[in-house]
Amino acid sequence: MTSVSSKVVETYRALHPKSAALYERARGVIPGGVTHDGRHMKPFPVYVERALGSHKWDVDGQDYVDYWMGHGALFLGHCHPKVVKAIQEQAAKGTHFGASHELEVRWAELITKLIPSAQMVRFAMSGTEATHLALRIARAYTGRNKVVKFHGHFHGWHDGVVAAVNPPYDVPMSAGVPESVLDQLLLSPPNDIKAVDALLGRGDVAAIILEPAGGQSGTTPTIPGYLQELRSLTERHNVVLIFDEVITGFRYAPGGAQAYFGVTPDMTTLAKIVAGGLPGAAVCGKKELLSMMAHRGDPVFDRSQRVAQNGTFNSNPVCSAAAIATLEMVADGSLHARANKLGDELRAGLSDAMKRAGVPGTTFGEASIFHVSFEGKPGLAGFDRPRRGDLYHLLRCALLNNGVDCSSHHGWISAVHSDADIERTIAGYEKAFREMAADGVFKGM
Ligand SMILES: Cc1ncc(COP(=O)(O)O)c(C=O)c1O
Repeated sequence: MTSVSSKVVETYRALHPKSAALYERARGVIPGGVTHDGRHMKPFPVYVERALGSHKWDVDGQDYVDYWMGHGALFLGHCHPKVVKAIQEQAAKGTHFGASHELEVRWAELITKLIPSAQMVRFAMSGTEATHLALRIARAYTGRNKVVKFHGHFHGWHDGVVAAVNPPYDVPMSAGVPESVLDQLLLSPPNDIKAVDALLGRGDVAAIILEPAGGQSGTTPTIPGYLQELRSLTERHNVVLIFDEVITGFRYAPGGAQAYFGVTPDMTTLAKIVAGGLPGAAVCGKKELLSMMAHRGDPVFDRSQRVAQNGTFNSNPVCSAAAIATLEMVADGSLHARANKLGDELRAGLSDAMKRAGVPGTTFGEASIFHVSFEGKPGLAGFDRPRRGDLYHLLRCALLNNGVDCSSHHGWISAVHSDADIERTIAGYEKAFREMAADGVFKGM
C-alpha cells in the first residue's frame, strides 16, 4: 500500500476537512463508514452536498467534474430539468399507490420499443434484484440449475453471482455464501468459446449470464465475434442467453449493447439508466420466458411452477415517471452520438496525458465509458498481471485534489458533459499523474 504520508494524501487531507469530520462520525454508526463497497477510500471519502449537470460539489466547497454519474445511472447528467419536473409532478400526485398504474405500462412499452430482446418486461428495484430474477426465470423455464458466469463479470451482490468477480477468481467476492450456492455457478475465463462449449456439453446448464461489452463495464472487453459465437452455441444447446445490460443498457445505444453489437439475447437485465437515475430495474426478454411469471389459472402451475416475485417499490410511480422522461429523451440516439464523441476525445486526451507525464499505461474503452490502466491495453502482454490497487487508489485521491471525481479506473460520460469539462478533466488527470510520479509511486514499473 502506498504510504499515507505521501504528498498527494497530505493535500487531500488539507482540502477536505469537513469530509474527514463526517467520516469520523460515520465510522461510529456505519460499518467501515460507507454504504457501498465502491465508496471505501483511504484516508476517507468525500461527502457530496449537491450536483448539477456534469458537476458536483462537496461539503468543503470543492467542485468536481463528475464521472461517477450516479454509478452510471445518470446518462442525462444530474438534475436534468425534464426528469426533475417529472419527479416533482408525480410526487405531488402520489409516491405509491399500492396498485397498478398507467406509468408502469408506458415504461414497459418504452423498453419493448427500444431493447431488441424485450418482448415483455418485469420490474424490480436494483440490478442485483434483476439478475437474481433473471436466473430464477431461466432455471424454472429449463428445469436445470447450473449457470455459466465469467471471470471478472459483475452482476450485483446476491449469493448467486458472487463467485469469480475479482482475482483471485477462486475466492468469492463475499464471505457468508454457502458452498452449495457457489457450486451452482460454472466459471469460465472470458472470450474463450471452447471453454464455454465444454461447459454447455454437460447438459445441466440453464443459462449463461454476461456483461456483453466485457466484465466490469468493459474492463476486459469482449473480443469481436464472441457474442455471435455465444448466441449460436446457446441456441444449439437450448440454454438461455442473458445479457446483463445494467451498465450498457441505453448507454451503448438506445437499444443497449445488443443493438450496438447486433446480437439479441433471450433475456436482458436492466437498471441504472432504465429508471432515469432513480432506483429501479427491469428484466425483459422473450415472451415464453417472462410468461413463467404470469398466473395461468392452473392451480398446479400457479402454485409450484410459476416464478414468484414481489417487491414493495417495484415500478413505483415516482421512479416510473423519471424513467419515462429519460427513455423518451434517449430514444433517438442523438445524445449517444454526442456522448460517444466525447468518449473518443477523452480517451485520446488521457492517453496523451499519460505519455506526457511519463506514466506507464494507457486509456481504452468504448462508447461513453473510459478506462485508465497502468497495466496497458487489453489483449497485450502485461494486461493480465495483478492490478496495482494502491496506484488506482492514489489516483482517485490525486484526481479529487484536481477537481475530477471518478472511480479509480473507469468513468461514465454523460450526454451533458461539455468540451470545457473534457479539457479540464485531461488537465486534471495530467496534474494528478505528475503528482503521483513526484510521490515516487511509479518507480521500477
Ligand atoms: C453489470 C452490472 N450488473 C448488476 C449490477 C448491480 O446493480 P445494482 O447496484 O443496481 O444492484 C451492476 C452494478 O453496478 C452492474 O454493473
